[in-house]
Amino acid sequence: MIELAFKDQVVIVTGSSSGIGRACAVHFGNNGAHVVVNYSSNAAEGQQVVDEIRSNGGTAILVKADVSKEEEVKALFSQTINEFGRLDILVSNAGLQKDAPFLEMTLEQWQKVIDVNLTGQFLACREAARQFIAQTKTTTETTHSELAVGKIVLMSSVHDVIPWAGHVNYAASKGGIMMFMKSISQELAPHKIRVNSVSPGAIKTPINQEVWSDPDKYKDLLQLIPYKRIGTAQDVAKAVAWLASDDSDYVNGETLYIDGGMTLYPEFADNG
Ligand code: BGC
Repeated sequence: MIELAFKDQVVIVTGSSSGIGRACAVHFGNNGAHVVVNYSSNAAEGQQVVDEIRSNGGTAILVKADVSKEEEVKALFSQTINEFGRLDILVSNAGLQKDAPFLEMTLEQWQKVIDVNLTGQFLACREAARQFIAQTKTTTETTHSELAVGKIVLMSSVHDVIPWAGHVNYAASKGGIMMFMKSISQELAPHKIRVNSVSPGAIKTPINQEVWSDPDKYKDLLQLIPYKRIGTAQDVAKAVAWLASDDSDYVNGETLYIDGGMTLYPEFADNG
């Protein structure tokens, strides 16, 4: 029998009731992990993800938490430990867009995106790191392990390097994630905790439905993708799984772009 890649590892995927988070949760569940599916507002969608994992033979629980609220994040982690006794992987994924032209952007739109996309990842990563260190101290099993004792994958975006007019709150949050990720990776590596990011390009999920569901906008979007297709949430989930697996044990503080070449300055292909 083939050993499942994440057999009995415990993973929290924040914001996993839809989109990329959902695909990650299902992928980990299908590969033997115990999955904590987190949502902030849509319980019914979250439950569907749990049901899908269970119907594939996996283990999952559903936990509500708004990642921008410290107490809710702490409760998310304590419920995970109560249920499964440990944590091995955090996929810090929850994020959103509140788009507006810069001159019209309200403080509320700015703040909401920074709160969820940046502060929310700070809170989740800090809790995960505390847990990894606490459980390393209490078990002899992992203390002398050659492999990482905890893995964190953050959800960034191609907009951690591609400026994005009309979305300055979002681009600022993801640019922030880049240095946040690298800085905590540097700080946590001596504890044998690995921290990396993925930066998806255009992935077919609810966040950009307005673009891919409109034939004209979709055609324009493909101009930005040398590989000439929109990504799928599974494209990202598979890369997240690799970064969370022991196969990438020597990869620390890296950002992996999953974008069909969107960051390759496609407009220069026949220009300049
Ligand atoms: C955004 C999407 C966008 C993609 C490429 C993502 O981070 O959330 O709305 O389609 O970047 O621009």
